[in-house]
Amino acid sequence: MKKNIFFIANWKMNLSAQQTRALTNGIMPTVKKYGNLMTLAIAPSFPMLQDVLNISRRSVRMQVCAQDCFWEQSGAYTGEVSPDMLAEMGCTHVLIGHSERRIYLHETDAMIQKKLACIFAMKKNIIPVLCVGETTRQKKAGRSEEIIHAQLTAALAGITLKSSQKLVIAYEPVWAIGSGIPMTPDEFGACAVRIRGYVSRAFGGQGRADSVVLYGGSVTPETARAYVSAGGDGVLVGGASQRIDSCTALIRTLCMK
Ligand code: 13P
Repeated sequence: MKKNIFFIANWKMNLSAQQTRALTNGIMPTVKKYGNLMTLAIAPSFPMLQDVLNISRRSVRMQVCAQDCFWEQSGAYTGEVSPDMLAEMGCTHVLIGHSERRIYLHETDAMIQKKLACIFAMKKNIIPVLCVGETTRQKKAGRSEEIIHAQLTAALAGITLKSSQKLVIAYEPVWAIGSGIPMTPDEFGACAVRIRGYVSRAFGGQGRADSVVLYGGSVTPETARAYVSAGGDGVLVGGASQRIDSCTALIRTLCMK
């Protein structure tokens, strides 16, 4: 059976409420048309989640992803949002450890591990999308593999998954994000194989060699399909997902034979 391609549109801290609704409504017909081939999870900013959730009810192939969550389900943590709250709203996914949070909010591997542990301890299901990737300096020092391995190992330390629980890995090299210089699909294909191996090993080699691995970093409608052809399960896209024309073009090209 052909796999269903997974596309996450990360709208980051962009778009007003009106723009968010217009974009979500605007891409809905394309999502419906290609829904047998792909699933789109939209990641708007927190205040826009409910608007996107309301529109997403029109297709099971449009899902909603939060951009972050905290590592406790409730308590005196001003400004934070718990995984339980997101799941209750209807979010299906949540990004964990995006490089912009690692850089600007100083999120550490230990914090990221606590977020994953909190998510996997809950009864309701929300799927974490664990983001990993090396910086320019780490790449130049030839440390890309070591960094990805270390990030995955630290994030998954002590985590066990029940059979109903899922994990998505998004490999986003920091140097490729918003730079217009993506990793080549071939390079990504080799990385995806290694990442599946690391994840499988982190879970004691038990049945997780099939984890969903996405590529992110300067993906465009012209390049998106090549990451799937190279062995990825889909893409995590920032800039090119934030306009109707390029977002619908991404969906169409991802679904090309
Ligand atoms: P760009 O697609 O704008 O490079 O952003 C990638 C990203 O950070 C998605 O999470």
